Amino acid sequence: MKATAQIGVTGLAVMGRNLARNFARHGYTVALHNRTPARTKALVEDFGHEGAFVPAETAEEFVAALERPRRLMIMVQAGAATDAVIDEFAALLEPGDMIIDGGNAHFTDTRRREQALRGLGIHFVGVGVSGGEEGALHGPSIMPGGSVASYAALGPMFETISAKVDGEPCVTHVGTDGAGHFVKMVHNGIEYADMQLIGEAYHLLRQVGGYEPARIAEIFRQWNKGRLDSYLMEISAEVLAHTDAATGRPFVDVVADSAGQKGTGRWTVRTALELGSPVTAIAQATFARAASGQRALRAAYRELPGGTSWDLTAYEAERFACLVEHALYASKLIAYDQGWKMILDASAEYGWDIDLGAIARIWRGGCIVRAAFLDRVRAAYAADPCRVTLLTEEGFVAEIADSQVPWREVVATAARHGVPVPAFSAALSYYDTLRTERLPAALTQGQRDYFGAHTYRRTDREGRFHTLWERAD
Ligand code: ATR
Repeated sequence: MKATAQIGVTGLAVMGRNLARNFARHGYTVALHNRTPARTKALVEDFGHEGAFVPAETAEEFVAALERPRRLMIMVQAGAATDAVIDEFAALLEPGDMIIDGGNAHFTDTRRREQALRGLGIHFVGVGVSGGEEGALHGPSIMPGGSVASYAALGPMFETISAKVDGEPCVTHVGTDGAGHFVKMVHNGIEYADMQLIGEAYHLLRQVGGYEPARIAEIFRQWNKGRLDSYLMEISAEVLAHTDAATGRPFVDVVADSAGQKGTGRWTVRTALELGSPVTAIAQATFARAASGQRALRAAYRELPGGTSWDLTAYEAERFACLVEHALYASKLIAYDQGWKMILDASAEYGWDIDLGAIARIWRGGCIVRAAFLDRVRAAYAADPCRVTLLTEEGFVAEIADSQVPWREVVATAARHGVPVPAFSAALSYYDTLRTERLPAALTQGQRDYFGAHTYRRTDREGRFHTLWERAD
């Protein structure tokens, strides 16, 4: 077989198929391969007219169809299947060739694979691809890791097929080895937080404000015209405005209220614990999904006493909606700030040197957290690439100052009414933790020294100290 393809895609389920079509639609010749050849045939039959495809039945044919250095993209199931496919193809490749994993791999697996293949002279490039099947076809946000040399060969192709915002492609070389998959994981963690925060805003407007879903949809549409402008805000309004055809009731009222997860939120939280990154809003969002699924526990708690709710006048409800907008925005700012800090921590831990402003830039399109707000995040990092938090940027400082009273009033009102706001309150507590001069961690250190002789540091002298406690027992 003559080598004519600039890229090959193996694994032609929905994501692989759409990425292959996206490459072909942009003029690349794409070699196709799938364990079960029927999927390859189906792609060519259904979409062959969209561009130049080279279908291959065997791994050998597939590799032979690729121009050198070969670019071979794997879009198979994460985990053992990915390892099996890598092993199969690595044996057929040569030094300088590239294996690109566009699946949802855990970044530690990507680091392990990259190291193993580096020994063979093969570039292993873990790439986060966001935006689901639509994104894959029409332009995803792309987060490639791997070597600088591999990015030189792959970057222009990724730029061509990625989403564009203001003419700029939503792709950057995130960092070496697993950096791309790491950032994709944090993207999903932030997505969990953003979804939960919007959910809490809805719940408050309904339970405290007394608004019906259709009215809340209108409020969300209004908010979506301002600083909360985002894809998630937009689709939340759509979902709330939707009526169930079978019953005529608001759609949101006929959906079972236990949220699922595929596990990337859990990965983010677990990794954050290991890095010591306090991503409390992301963690609360992840636990909120888990709690929603605890049917027996929820049934056991159901009759327990709660807060005191009272009806708001129309004027009070309208005012309350304004307060919730402030609380949502301030909490969102904290959730994103936590995510960026986690990326910063990992960047230092793994030597990735990640450009945080570039991450904001590439999330502006093609992915679930795309939002107008990210332009400002990008500008904040452009002004100071070394900032440890967004909350030192002038504009954000002013907004957070402006939101103080509403944010606190909303969290306090939720507590009084007995409406759960785990992400709102986690964000506010995080904010207060970090701005507090003296934390009760001093007492924690005292306790640790008392029961375990763990020692403590002092505020007035260098060194580690232990007190010989006169124990009560
Ligand atoms: P879906 O997304 O349709 O649920 P999947 O089971 O997640 O599919 O598999 C995604 C892709 O990984 C498919 O292309 C699948 O190949 P088949 O079409 O032959 O099932 C591929 N895949 C899964 N396990 C594989 C393995 N061990 N070796 C090679 N390809 C594999």
